[in-house]
Amino acid sequence: MASRGSFSSRAGFILAAAGSAVGLGNIWKFPFEVGLGGGAAFVVMYLAFAFILCFPVMVTEIAIGRKTGKNPIGAFGALGFAKWSFVGKVGTFCGMLILSYYNVIAGWALGYLVEMIMGNFDVGKNFSQYTTNLVKVLFYTITFMTITSYVVGRGISGGIEKVAKILMPTLILMIVSLAIYAFTLPHAMEGLKFYLVPEFDEITAATIGGALRQAFFSLSLGMGTMIAYGSYLSKKENIVSSTALVTLTDVCIAFIAGMMIFPFVAFNNGGDMNNLVSGPGLLFINLPNAFASMGPTLGVVVGSFFFLLIAFAALTSTVSLLEVPVCYVVDEMKVPRAKAVWYVAGIIYLFGLPSLLGFGISDFFSNGIVLPASTDFLSFAASLADTLLLFGGFCIVTFAFFIWKKENLVAEIKNGYEEYEGSFAHRFLDIAISYVCPTLLATLFVLVVLSHFFGISLI
Ligand code: PHE
Repeated sequence: MASRGSFSSRAGFILAAAGSAVGLGNIWKFPFEVGLGGGAAFVVMYLAFAFILCFPVMVTEIAIGRKTGKNPIGAFGALGFAKWSFVGKVGTFCGMLILSYYNVIAGWALGYLVEMIMGNFDVGKNFSQYTTNLVKVLFYTITFMTITSYVVGRGISGGIEKVAKILMPTLILMIVSLAIYAFTLPHAMEGLKFYLVPEFDEITAATIGGALRQAFFSLSLGMGTMIAYGSYLSKKENIVSSTALVTLTDVCIAFIAGMMIFPFVAFNNGGDMNNLVSGPGLLFINLPNAFASMGPTLGVVVGSFFFLLIAFAALTSTVSLLEVPVCYVVDEMKVPRAKAVWYVAGIIYLFGLPSLLGFGISDFFSNGIVLPASTDFLSFAASLADTLLLFGGFCIVTFAFFIWKKENLVAEIKNGYEEYEGSFAHRFLDIAISYVCPTLLATLFVLVVLSHFFGISLI
C-alpha cells in the first residue's frame, strides 16, 4: 500500500494544526462575536472555554487519529467500533459544508486584497454591490478553491506542512505589526477599552453559549480535522503539550486580532463604539474606510497587508477542511490523492454556490430561508455546521472515554509522554473528558437546536 504520508516534524504538526485553528474564525468571526456579545466579557469566557472544553476534545481527537492512522470515518472501524463511524460521516459532511461557505468569505478576502492593492477603498461602502458582482465572486472563489486543492494535492509534508511553515510565522508577524500600528491611531484607546474592559452585567446565558460555540469552531473541533491530522503524527510526539501549544496559539491570535480590529474600527467611527456594524460586515465594510483615511500610500500598504493576512489565515484552514474528505477518499476508495483532491473540491465548490448566491444575487438564497436564526443560505449553512460540530464533539468524547475506554486513550497519550499517567494533566483531562465536555456539549447542542431551528429560547 502506498504510504499515506506524515508530518516531518513536531513543529510542522503544530504549525499545521494551529494553521487549521487560526482562520476566519479568529480574524473575521471572533471580533464581530465580541461586538455582539458585549466586548471583554465575551473574551474572558472564550479564553476559559478554550482550555476547559476545547483542549481536552482536541487531545482526544488527535489520540484517536494517531492510534488508528485513519481518516475520521475509518478510524472508528479501525478501533473495532464500525457502528460509530456515523460520527465520522457526520463530521466529514460537516467539514464539506463549512468549506463550501468558508471559501466564499475567503474569496471575498482575496478580492478585497486586489481592490486594496489598486487603492479602491470604496469597496467597503459598496460591500453589497461587491457580493452581487457574479463575475468577481466566481473568479475569486474558484481561485481560492484551486489554491487550496493544489496544496492538499501535494500531500502532508510536501503541501499542508510546508505551507503552514511559511504562512504561520508570516501571519504572526503581520498581525502583531498591524496591531502595533493600530495602537498608534487616533481613538485606539476607545476601541481597546470596548474590547478589554469587561462589563460583567453583559454576560447572559446567550453570551456564554456564543463564546463556547465560537471557541469550539475556532479550534476546528467536532468534525474530525484533528483526527485526520493526528493520523499523520508520529508516535514519538507528546500529544498533550502539542495540543496545549496549538490552543495557546489560537487564543493568542484571536486575542491579538481583536487588538488590531477594534482600534481600526474606533478610528473609523471617531471613537464611537455604540453603533458597531456587527456581523459579517464588521470587517468588510468598516475597515476599507479606515484604510482610506490613512491616505493613499499608507492605506494601500496597510489594507493590502490586512487582507493578505486574512487570506493566509483562511488558506491554512481551508486545507484542513479539504483534507478530511480527501483522506477518506484516499484511504477507503484508494483513489490517488492528486486526483481525489480535484473531485472532492469540485463537489464542495458546487455545494457552496447557494451561499455564494445568497448575498443578493439570488433572492431565494438571500432571503428565502425561513429559519429563526437565518434568512440567507450562508448563515443557514453556518448554523447547521455549528450545530453538527457540537454533536460531533459530544459523540467523540463520549466514544473515547466510555466505548473505546479511557485506559486505551491513556495508553495512546502515553506514547511520547511516558509520565502522563498520574500527572496533573491526566487528572484534569480525565475529569474534563468524562464529565465536563459531554455535559457542556450536550446541553449546548440541545439549546442551539431549539433556538436555531425552532425559535425556542430557553435561556
Ligand atoms: N478553525 C477554523 C477557523 O477558526 C475553522 C475550521 C473549523 C477549520 C472546523 C477546520 C474545521 O477559522
